[in-house]
Amino acid sequence: MMGKRNVDRRLALVTGATAGIGEAVARRFAAEDWDLVLTGRRSERLIALSQELAERFPQVSVLALTFDVCDEEATFAALEGLSEDWQSVDVLVNNAGLSQSLEPVHRQDPADWDRMIDTNIKGLLRVSRVVAPWMRRRGRGHIINLGSIAGKEVYANGAVYCATKHAVEAITRSMRMELNPDRIKVGLIAPGLVETEFSIVRFKGDRERAAAVYHGLEPLVADDIADAVWYMASRPAHVHVADMLILPTAQASMGQITRRP
Ligand SMILES: NC(=O)c1ccc[n+]([C@@H]2O[C@H](COP(=O)([O-])OP(=O)(O)OC[C@H]3O[C@@H](n4cnc5c(N)ncnc54)[C@H](OP(=O)(O)O)[C@@H]3O)[C@@H](O)[C@H]2O)c1
Repeated sequence: MMGKRNVDRRLALVTGATAGIGEAVARRFAAEDWDLVLTGRRSERLIALSQELAERFPQVSVLALTFDVCDEEATFAALEGLSEDWQSVDVLVNNAGLSQSLEPVHRQDPADWDRMIDTNIKGLLRVSRVVAPWMRRRGRGHIINLGSIAGKEVYANGAVYCATKHAVEAITRSMRMELNPDRIKVGLIAPGLVETEFSIVRFKGDRERAAAVYHGLEPLVADDIADAVWYMASRPAHVHVADMLILPTAQASMGQITRRP
């Protein structure tokens, strides 16, 4: 139900809030007394999270919107259907994203390329295409994109995921220029290894293989990235933190990870 909200309150829209980093960002912003639009495909999770946050923070208004960012029509319809009080988004966190399989290009299923490109690049573009004009109308706003260390480096068997995150970085930098005259900030947060459902999704439900990714090291947790998103979003109006690379201490680069037995 789209209840009326007080437009004097701050509002964040977080894509991919049903798990991992997006869910942690939602929890953090609610605790900081922000209203929220939360999106994702798994509506039961979205509803459960919205209800939990509404109970814990009765002054916070939360709206759950279920849609697939790969579905252009559904994405535009869901967002454009928001009433004006829910369009006054102060911060958009473009977080929905995924990796699919770990294979060389010559073996990878093209359907995996499509899912990564359509979600990580075009999904982010679709949501931004709708929300940026709302921000332009108000002459303020902040878009925070979830890139990755894979957008700054590459690794074998991750060509397409790396390409999508390089694209996120390029789009972020271009949009920063496009929206600068409107006083809209566009920032990038590029994490290294964060233990979420990310690897379970990448390995299509193989939890053992997913757990091995973090074996022998202390990875980042979703709250570490939510902290960074909050830091970026809560700077004074004249301060624009444009780019943050955040790694677990055990990780020096994409390929150098110090594991303990
Ligand atoms: N974990 C890491 O090590 C890591 C490192 C660097 C960057 N990142 C980036 O951080 C972001 C969040 O990842 P995470 O680690 O939190 O993974 P996660 O736990 O798997 O969460 C991913 C979120 O994205 C949503 N999502 C995926 N495809 C979607 C679609 N087509 N439409 C709408 N929502 C969709 C999922 O919701 P539904 O399934 O309910 O739709 C889920 O809420 C991603 O962009 C990822 O590339 C992660």
